[in-house]
Amino acid sequence: MPPIPRSTTARKIILDCDPGHDDAVALLLAHGSPNIELLAVTTVVGNQTLEKVTRNALAVAAIAGITDVPFAAGCARPLVRSIETAPDIHGDSGLDGPELPEPAFDLDPRHAVDLIIDTVMAHEPGTVTLVPTAGLTNIAMAARKEPRIVERVREVVLMGGGYHVGNWSAVAEFNIKIDPEAAHIVFNESWPVVMVGLDLTHQALATPDVVERIAAIGTKPAKFVVELMDFFAATYRDAQGFDYPPVHDPCVVAYVIDPGVMTTRRVPVDIELTGTLTLGMTVADFRAPAPADCTTSVAMDLDREKFWDLVVDAIAMIGEPSAEVTAA
Ligand code: BDR
Ligand code: CA
Repeated sequence: MPPIPRSTTARKIILDCDPGHDDAVALLLAHGSPNIELLAVTTVVGNQTLEKVTRNALAVAAIAGITDVPFAAGCARPLVRSIETAPDIHGDSGLDGPELPEPAFDLDPRHAVDLIIDTVMAHEPGTVTLVPTAGLTNIAMAARKEPRIVERVREVVLMGGGYHVGNWSAVAEFNIKIDPEAAHIVFNESWPVVMVGLDLTHQALATPDVVERIAAIGTKPAKFVVELMDFFAATYRDAQGFDYPPVHDPCVVAYVIDPGVMTTRRVPVDIELTGTLTLGMTVADFRAPAPADCTTSVAMDLDREKFWDLVVDAIAMIGEPSAEVTAA
């Protein structure tokens, strides 16, 4: 396969993830979209241990034929709390369902926090967007280790939280709840934060028509996504009572590609750190008007058709990477 052509206006992103079924789709969307320049992929404990999610990220790279992007492993536990993983949703490997190929390349030797800092500092101010689809441990650590990145980052577009709904408690979402102190740091820095939470991602359901469109592409990466979605559908049905699984993480990549894929509203958001019932809640203040210094916004309504078109087109664009890269 020839390399995927990148638009001259492609958005530069660092994807910080914990693959994870939906993280895998986010990575494929980032790689397959001509409007994204993937500068680095970093991993953090979350859906499974750091070792497992890092191995999964490299497996997805092998499936997609990603060869020219540094991948680095980051924090193996949250800042303060004990490790909490999500095997009931993502299985024992963190990416149960399809057979996973061996990694096709080695990790970057740097810690993910250093790769994030180096990458942001090496690019023009205002050009790099951080795209976390996991707990915010690496991002918070990077902001503390090198505070100059906060001014240089264009924006942080993260999957996490929810202003009306939780999934890891009645009011808290997994990515925020597993490391609320890290989330507190990230939401209270001066960089712009777009919170793409459950209110939005529960609109991104992988319904049968969507899975059929992906299957019809007919390539190995497409088959991989179909197998991921089959597993994800079963666990979301059994563990959380969903008819179809919400594919959270690609929503943030879609927003970076085309902000018109969803509506957003600027509102102050802070993280609950002390509530006995509300730990990790993303408390959004919808009283108008938002203060002039408000740097946070929340995603509200998804253009579902536009979203799935972006995902399907990206998977099709990846095509059939060469046999050496995808060999299991
Ligand atoms: C988030 O939690 C993880 O299990 C998913 O990968 C997603 O990032 C949804 O709450
Ligand atoms: Ca994730």
